[in-house]
Amino acid sequence: MGRKTWFSIPEKNRPLRNRINIVLSRQLKAPPAGSHHLAADFSSALRMIDTQLSQQTDQVWVIGGSSLYKELMETKSIIRLFVTQIHQQFECDTFIPEICPEKYSLLPDFPGVPRGVQEEHGIQYTFEVYQSIE
Ligand SMILES: NC(=O)c1ccc[n+]([C@@H]2O[C@H](COP(=O)([O-])OP(=O)(O)OC[C@H]3O[C@@H](n4cnc5c(N)ncnc54)[C@H](OP(=O)(O)O)[C@@H]3O)[C@@H](O)[C@H]2O)c1
Repeated sequence: MGRKTWFSIPEKNRPLRNRINIVLSRQLKAPPAGSHHLAADFSSALRMIDTQLSQQTDQVWVIGGSSLYKELMETKSIIRLFVTQIHQQFECDTFIPEICPEKYSLLPDFPGVPRGVQEEHGIQYTFEVYQSIE
């Protein structure tokens, strides 16, 4: 995750449980307190996972923010996007890049991901999973 995403997580919930939390920053010199690792760019983070963390990892999740999503979505690797479409308007200041239909296809279903409209506290939403097209 990017540095701002890390600091947007309430302190009591950091690091995110049962996950190795890698924070990306070009400025920080050491991992922020509570995080596990710091990486200076996206490819260093992936290299770290492939080398020193390979025994402890089976999946890599990029959890934002927007510039990291953009960088990831422009890579040539096969990736999946797990998106929550919230069926309500909110004023926002941070946005995910557009999901390009030539590059990503919406899967009809995905194991473990509920289908159809969900609702929580009166807010409706739908889960979507996209797979990059080779
Ligand atoms: N709804 C969601 O799913 C979701 C997910 C994530 C975040 N968010 C929200 O989005 C906001 C934060 O997102 P954001 O886009 O503003 O910021 P961000 O991507 O979380 O953080 C930006 C910072 O991360 C570092 N960074 C980003 N890309 C990097 C790269 N390739 N290499 C090295 N460092 C990199 C830089 O830190 P330095 O300036 O230290 O160099 C950059 O200033 C928060 O409000 C958060 O709550 C929402």
